[in-house]
Amino acid sequence: MNSEFAPFSYKDNNLFSQEFDDLYSSAKGAVEESEYVFINGNNLHNRFRELKDQTFYIGEIGFGVGINFLTTCRSWLKNSQKDRVLTFYSFDKYLFQLKDFKKILDTYPELKEYREEFEKSYPKNVKGVQKISLFEGRISLNLVIGDINQTQEYLELIKGVDAWFLDGFSPSKNPDLWSKKLFDLISHSCKRHATFATYTSAGTVKQNLRESGFDIKKINGFSNKRHMLKGISSSGQKITENPSKVAVIGSGIAGCLLSYSLAKKGLEVDLFEQSDDICSGASSHELLVAYPRLSSHDNAFGRFNLLSYLYAVNFYDNLNSTAWQKTGVLVLNHDQNSNKRQESLMQHRFDKDIYQHLSPEEASTISGISIDLDGLLYRDAGYILPRQLCEVLIDSPNINLKTSSKIESLSRDQKITSFKIGSKEYKYKNVCLSTGSDTSKLLNIDGLSIKRGQTTHLEKDRNISGINLPICAKGYVSPLVNNIHVVGSSYSDLEHLDIVQEEHLSNLENLKIIHDGAVAVDSGKVGFRAVSKDHMPMVGEVDGIYINTCHGSRASISAPISAEIISSYILKEAPPLEIRELQALSPKRFN
Ligand SMILES: Cc1cc2nc3c(=O)[nH]c(=O)nc-3n(C[C@H](O)[C@H](O)[C@H](O)COP(=O)(O)OP(=O)(O)OC[C@H]3O[C@@H](n4cnc5c(N)ncnc54)[C@H](O)[C@@H]3O)c2cc1C
Ligand SMILES: C[S@@+](CC[C@H](N)C(=O)[O-])C[C@H]1O[C@@H](n2cnc3c(N)ncnc32)[C@H](O)[C@@H]1O
Repeated sequence: MNSEFAPFSYKDNNLFSQEFDDLYSSAKGAVEESEYVFINGNNLHNRFRELKDQTFYIGEIGFGVGINFLTTCRSWLKNSQKDRVLTFYSFDKYLFQLKDFKKILDTYPELKEYREEFEKSYPKNVKGVQKISLFEGRISLNLVIGDINQTQEYLELIKGVDAWFLDGFSPSKNPDLWSKKLFDLISHSCKRHATFATYTSAGTVKQNLRESGFDIKKINGFSNKRHMLKGISSSGQKITENPSKVAVIGSGIAGCLLSYSLAKKGLEVDLFEQSDDICSGASSHELLVAYPRLSSHDNAFGRFNLLSYLYAVNFYDNLNSTAWQKTGVLVLNHDQNSNKRQESLMQHRFDKDIYQHLSPEEASTISGISIDLDGLLYRDAGYILPRQLCEVLIDSPNINLKTSSKIESLSRDQKITSFKIGSKEYKYKNVCLSTGSDTSKLLNIDGLSIKRGQTTHLEKDRNISGINLPICAKGYVSPLVNNIHVVGSSYSDLEHLDIVQEEHLSNLENLKIIHDGAVAVDSGKVGFRAVSKDHMPMVGEVDGIYINTCHGSRASISAPISAEIISSYILKEAPPLEIRELQALSPKRFN
């Protein structure tokens, strides 16, 4: 579930890798070297100042302790216009532990402002892609952790890179980071006339770069290094124009998150909703508890659940809205299965960075009520208020909300999707169905089913009103929100939306595992969940139409990353997950 942290030591006060028998940076000054080799070698100050495009893309091999990244942040924030975005992809086998990062960065006071912001959203030590938004969205770091031999196929998904930093350890000691195969993939990711820079001028590096389609220039190296290399890609691709207006159908949490993601990237969105208001389907619930269902197995399911959770927390943190309540979530150890799962999670991760074990006494102190069971605390988890969140998300001049607009059917011809509302016909190149449990009414998809759920709302009561975070066992109970506690939720095959007493009773029975005292029912709420056969969302394209559904019981976690996946498909950017996970989300997987 997580790789080791970066093993490092010091040699004459310089950061050193014993594994690769090399220094991380020049002993003559890491920040100065970074400025000289990577920033100036790629002419970045000028290019940032004169940038015409909305986004500038940088790729880096060897994230290390992040000196190059932070030096680039400094230049970007000083030189670029405020509405432009820097997308920085970086690959490394290891991540430094936060405490070591802090200690190392203390020696570079000139980067203080930038490292402090980075520390607030510091990556977790998990394999795969972590997309982290920094500096109010002006910089997006896409950090890919894992051995390059396993992660390099992610490069196939990256297009349109403007500049590359090649910063492996010395080629003779770290040949995997300078191979012809890797350079071919890097070359394939380049925009036409993209640049690269590297501190080395080793013969094999020159040869491999040349054979992979780069024009090379040897120039004076940094400090006592005789030479370094810089150059341009002679074979990069011409980037096609941004797509036109996009239609998003459905204004639940999935549709609003997608509209937000597209609008943020400068696209105009028509958001269609059949009801007369947003959030009328499953997203009409008072609150959604947001915590991950983790697995200790590093399969697509386990990786998706973990990475989507990290993505969601970073996303909500950046929104700065009270619709996100980062209270932590307590998951109790209440039966054999939960016990087994918790034990195996504890065996796989000791750093308490994502979850930590709590005794019944600790659980009682943290939750605010008396708890008899032990459990796991997900400190960064919490709950969202979906309606309030969606209002924030779609408050953009780029989003045109069209309520009372039911789409009855879709037709597709010559790469254009069209539909009618009344007598008016709409045509779009890109359409995305975020239609929850109604998706099969518009498109035939295998593997999708519908499960009804009912929540029970409890009156404010002194026995439980002290609860200050969601507590989950077989069901869950929330803190007081709008004068009620939400207890959830049933899972049934009934096909109507009426409140059913039996489902209230089963919710209250499950509540007893958490709190066995008298409570009074105020009301309830029913919705239909879209669920896939394997409990993964359906996110991808079918017959030229994008689908974003089957968020099951976990939309608060799965929907933010899913929105980013669809918007990256539409904009031909690299999605925030690797190929295995993307395939596991494909709506075509049950065909
Ligand atoms: C009882 C219950 C409790 C839950 N608890 C949690 C929880 O604690 N945490 C959590 O993360 N998740 C929870 N969930 C799951 C979560 O609510 C859903 O996964 C999520 O709301 C789905 O969002 P969505 O946007 O995909 O679908 P929806 O919210 O259903 O939105 C779909 C929208 O599409 C519109 N639409 C459909 N067809 C058309 C059409 N043809 N034309 C125009 N518009 C159309 C609908 O009107 C609707 O507004 C719960 C679900 C239920 C039922
Ligand atoms: C010279 S350091 C990078 C320094 C970094 N750019 C900085 O600014 O701090 C080289 C990096 O390459 C990484 N590395 C070495 N072999 C790797 C491999 N097989 N896969 C991925 N990363 C690797 C190391 O972990 C190390 O962090």
